[in-house]
Amino acid sequence: MSELSVNHLLGIKYLKASDVDLIFETADHFKEVINRPIKKVPSLRDITIANLFFENSTRTKLSFELAEKRLSADVINFSASQSSVKKGETLIDTVNNILSMKVDMVVMRHPNPGAGVFLSNHINASIVNAGDGAHEHPTQALLDSYSIREKLGEVKGKNVVIVGDILHSRVALSNIYALQLQGANVMVCGPKTLLPKYINKLGVKVETNLRKALEWCDVANMLRVQNERMDINYFPSTREYSQQFGVNKALLNSLNKEIVIMHPGPINRGVEITSDVADSDQAIILDQVQNGVAVRMAVIYLLASKIKQ
Ligand code: NCD
Repeated sequence: MSELSVNHLLGIKYLKASDVDLIFETADHFKEVINRPIKKVPSLRDITIANLFFENSTRTKLSFELAEKRLSADVINFSASQSSVKKGETLIDTVNNILSMKVDMVVMRHPNPGAGVFLSNHINASIVNAGDGAHEHPTQALLDSYSIREKLGEVKGKNVVIVGDILHSRVALSNIYALQLQGANVMVCGPKTLLPKYINKLGVKVETNLRKALEWCDVANMLRVQNERMDINYFPSTREYSQQFGVNKALLNSLNKEIVIMHPGPINRGVEITSDVADSDQAIILDQVQNGVAVRMAVIYLLASKIKQ
C-alpha cells in the first residue's frame, strides 16, 4: 500500500495497521534526510500549512513547524493567546478566514475533545490533530511506537506499561490504540482515581502497584500529572504520588532486567521521574523528540500527497 486510508489524521482510532506501517517506512526515509548535511527536501513546495495552537505547546509546535519546513512547505503560525479568538470569534470563522488565504492543511491543538473531527466536517482542508483536550494526540503515539520499534526492533509482542495520569491524558489513549494496533500488550498503572471508569473496555491490563508493572514490562511510558485539567485533588500530595508512582534509579536497579523508559515531555523532574532516570541511558526521551520530526514529516507528506491527487 502506498497511500494512507484516511484524508486527515484525527486520531489513531481511525487508522489501520497498514497506515502505521506506511508512516513508519516513510519516517525511516525522512530520518535519514534530517541527518544529512542538507536536512531539507523540496517535496511540499506547493503546499501551505497553518499551525493553529489554541493550547500551550513547546515540543509539538516546534516539531510540526520543523517537519513542515524540512519538507519545504509554506508555514503560518497562530496562537490563540495572541488572536481574535479572545474577541469572541468562532472556531469555524477563525479557520475559514485562515483558509481563504489558500491554506491546504491545518495542524491544530485545541482544548476541546473532538475539535479536529468537528473541523474536518466543516472545512475543506486536511486536518492533523496535534492534541484535542484529554482525547487523542496521534502523532505523539506514532512517534512513541516508532521509538520503541527503533530501540527494540519491533512493537509487536512487547509489554508496554503507561504510568500515571491516564484519566486526563490524550497521550495515554492514543498510545493504547497505537500499541494495540501493532500487537503490543498494554498495561496502565496509576492511582485508582486517575484511571478512567471505562478503562476495562479498552482491553488493557490494569495495575496499581508500580513495582509489579515494571517487573512485567519491556517499556514504561511515564506520564505527567495533568494538574491543569484537575479541579479536585486526585491524590493526597505530590510527595506521596512520587513515592508510589514515580520511577527512580534505585527502583529500576532492583528489577532483574533493564527496561526502556519513555516520557512525552514536559517532564516534572522528581515527580513522575527522577533526574538520574531521565538523564540515563535507559531513557529514550530525547530520541522520542528527534523521531517526532521524522514521523511528523511522514504524516504531513502522506496526507499532502492525497490533496495533490
Ligand atoms: C503532552 C501533551 O501536550 O499532551 N506533551 C506533548 O505533546 N509532548 C503531554 C503532557 O502535556 O504532559
